Amino acid sequence: MALVSFVRIALLGIAGGVSFVAPSYGAEDVERGAQVSRSCMACHSFSPGRHMTGPSLAGVWGRRAGTAAGFSRYSDALKRSEIVWTEKSLDAWLRKPAALIPGNTMLFDGIPDPGTRADLLAYLQAVSEGRASAPERGLPNLKRVDASSQVTAIRYCGDAYRVLTGDGKSRTWWEFNLRFKTDGSPDGPSTGKPVIVGSGMQGDRAAVVFSRPEEISMFIRRECP
Ligand code: HEC
Repeated sequence: MALVSFVRIALLGIAGGVSFVAPSYGAEDVERGAQVSRSCMACHSFSPGRHMTGPSLAGVWGRRAGTAAGFSRYSDALKRSEIVWTEKSLDAWLRKPAALIPGNTMLFDGIPDPGTRADLLAYLQAVSEGRASAPERGLPNLKRVDASSQVTAIRYCGDAYRVLTGDGKSRTWWEFNLRFKTDGSPDGPSTGKPVIVGSGMQGDRAAVVFSRPEEISMFIRRECP
């Protein structure tokens, strides 16, 4: 199934942003840092207000730890740390999060190499100051998917789900390998239009994403072919 584009990094405006260029970092550092930032994007977005497992990192530079508006899952350890995110504190955090703030819930070992961290910091600062554009979220916009990902019906029979898609095809999944998820964010699917993701050619598991939990059992019908 054609799956929706993955993380693409767009670095715009670096050349044009001369007046804002920080003294310590160059454009190449920012570009390398953008590559490093991919390791963050499983859990973080750089778009304002777009929270995932971790809070949005838009505007993190200079912000007090634990204060991204609308993110409700901070650990007490992070909230109580009274750290402000500067070059120095971010460098310590990214070297070893558990050492800087014991008891935090960011499952990330850290980046041992100082040069790699410096590149990433250059990027975080550039994104926070609007000199580098935030990359697309690591997940696709589920309102714009092609027909092969658009779920039109789900039938449950025995120990399996048969998922029918907008391209007229259907595929049957062992019930244990099909997950049901919700995405109520603006990038989530439209109401009544769930989307199947992660069902690559070889994959034996996938997820159907709904706009809200109430839809899930309403959408699935018990019916054997
Ligand atoms: C496995 C998921 C995961 C990965 C990977 C990850 N983070 Fe995090 N991050 C989190 C979570 C969860 C929190 C909140 C931690 C807490 O509240 O204790 C967090 C918090 C943060 C914070 C503090 C934000 C604030 O508002 O105070 C920063 C900065 C940060 N992460 C940067 C990064 C960077 C940069 C990377 C990539 C090198 C990264 N993280 C990788 C999950 C992740």
